Amino acid sequence: MKTNKIDFKKHMREQKELVNITLDRFLPRKNDYPKEIHKAMRHTLFAGGKRVRPYLTILVYNIFTQENEDIILQAAAAIEVLHTYTLIHDDLPEIDNDDYRRGKKTCHVLFGSDIALLAGDALLVEAFNLVNEINVKPELKVKLIADMAELAGDKGLIAGQMQDILSEGKAVKRKTVDFIHLNKTAKLIQLCCRFGAYLANAPATHVKKLDEFGQKIGLAFQIIDDILDVESSNAKMGKTVGKDQAENKATYPAVYGIEQSKKKADKLINDALKLLSPYGEHADLLKEFTLMLAKRDS
Ligand code: IPE
Ligand code: IPE
Ligand code: MG
Ligand code: MG
Ligand code: MG
Repeated sequence: MKTNKIDFKKHMREQKELVNITLDRFLPRKNDYPKEIHKAMRHTLFAGGKRVRPYLTILVYNIFTQENEDIILQAAAAIEVLHTYTLIHDDLPEIDNDDYRRGKKTCHVLFGSDIALLAGDALLVEAFNLVNEINVKPELKVKLIADMAELAGDKGLIAGQMQDILSEGKAVKRKTVDFIHLNKTAKLIQLCCRFGAYLANAPATHVKKLDEFGQKIGLAFQIIDDILDVESSNAKMGKTVGKDQAENKATYPAVYGIEQSKKKADKLINDALKLLSPYGEHADLLKEFTLMLAKRDS
């Protein structure tokens, strides 16, 4: 057990470092003209994110193949670039109005809302560009791009963000908060699983199963984020906690209560782990990662 744990931590550290190198390699230099936009993009991208999504993408790929090539690192990096755009826009005064992100001042606080808006736009476009540069056959590339557009678009992540805004200050139904969380957060986590499985040439039945796994851990991830907004600290989270209640946000603790929220997250994690059982030891690292997400306090 102990050796396994050390291996997992080492693997996670190494893979995250490779993701960071890939991100640095593909992103424009900070002094490229006009430097304001590139500095702003790089500020939030390299502010110190946990890199949960790229590492998940790699771990799903690793169920089927151990060789970590450029194709999976680029796909993982593309999702992190898209995720970072969502954070910059989510923090804007017009949406959540947050001053801290990833332990640093938010993009708009440092550069102004105009530049932060453009930095988010540029990262979103760059994410698709990164997928386009993955060296795989065109049919597969089109599939990656189409899924990214579907899950991040107005029927996906943006639908979740939209309903999140519309629900602020209102007593919402369970159905609504489920919709918000499944869309604003789980869909991008599903995309990680799809990318990992597609690039490993996994059969369609496995893609479906892993997509379902992603939906479960994705929903759990947002429920835990909501719980940590109540129970964790600014220092641990790198962002201002207690904001959800202050702004009367539609969160799991607000709608289901804190105990019920914890139970729901635990059940989702256990159900997700069950979906991995057919993969045996090929999914050991992914199982460890899933358990780590459940126990996270930052
Ligand atoms: C924050 O995501 C937004 C949510 C969906 C809760 P993360 O908790 O993965 O944030 P970073 O990437 O580590 O900053
Ligand atoms: C954000 O949810 C989800 C997206 C950015 C798409 P939250 O608003 O809860 O995320 P934090 O707490 O600001 O990271
Ligand atoms: Mg938000
Ligand atoms: Mg927010
Ligand atoms: Mg939150």
